[in-house]
Amino acid sequence: MSSELDVLLANNRRWAAATEQREPGFFTRLAQQQSPKYMWIGCADSRVPANEITGLDPGEVFVHRNVANVVVHSDLNALSTVQFAVEHLKVEHIMVVGHHGCAGVRAAMRGLRVGLADNWLRHVHDVRLRHRKRLDHLPPEVQEDILCEMNVIEQVGNVALSTVIQDAWARGQPVSVHGWVYGLKDGLLKDLQVSMDRPEAVVPVFSAALKRYPRMANPGTETDTDTD
Ligand code: CO
Repeated sequence: MSSELDVLLANNRRWAAATEQREPGFFTRLAQQQSPKYMWIGCADSRVPANEITGLDPGEVFVHRNVANVVVHSDLNALSTVQFAVEHLKVEHIMVVGHHGCAGVRAAMRGLRVGLADNWLRHVHDVRLRHRKRLDHLPPEVQEDILCEMNVIEQVGNVALSTVIQDAWARGQPVSVHGWVYGLKDGLLKDLQVSMDRPEAVVPVFSAALKRYPRMANPGTETDTDTD
């Protein structure tokens, strides 16, 4: 049966041959074990492939992706993946990576109904509500990109506060959590400067990251808190 999928299988054969030619024994070595230093938690969006963007080969980055790169404390899928990465693979860096132009974030920002995923995107909607004073005064097209970034910051906090990371830090395992955002328009990753590598860093780093998104100027009444 000839189909468009045949193209993918042919591509795969060419890729495997070229890889083996470039680096003889590549697959044999990789088949023995993986020892990635990095874990990537990103959006399922087809335009944001972890390996290609970061120039990493198979075996170098452990990946978990879902709609709008959300990490929820009751999501056993995400938490199990983080646990495996930290406790078994001993990754040293976990990057939560959002991207501008994220359809999931846009739906949450605009209150669009998309179906079953509305329940999942509720988490992003909650981020929007929590930080609405930092969002509402911005033009709509900017709001979406800023919510993408705030969502990353929130998810970095969620990863850092997970039992997996808290336990790792408690036993002295070196693992840090980072937040990045990817620009679909230029292909560039931006560091949101929310890296955390120990329990004491979580609150100050989280607060400092959020304060980079000012509320609407309202002289005389503004008392900035970390809770909005
Ligand atoms: Co997305």
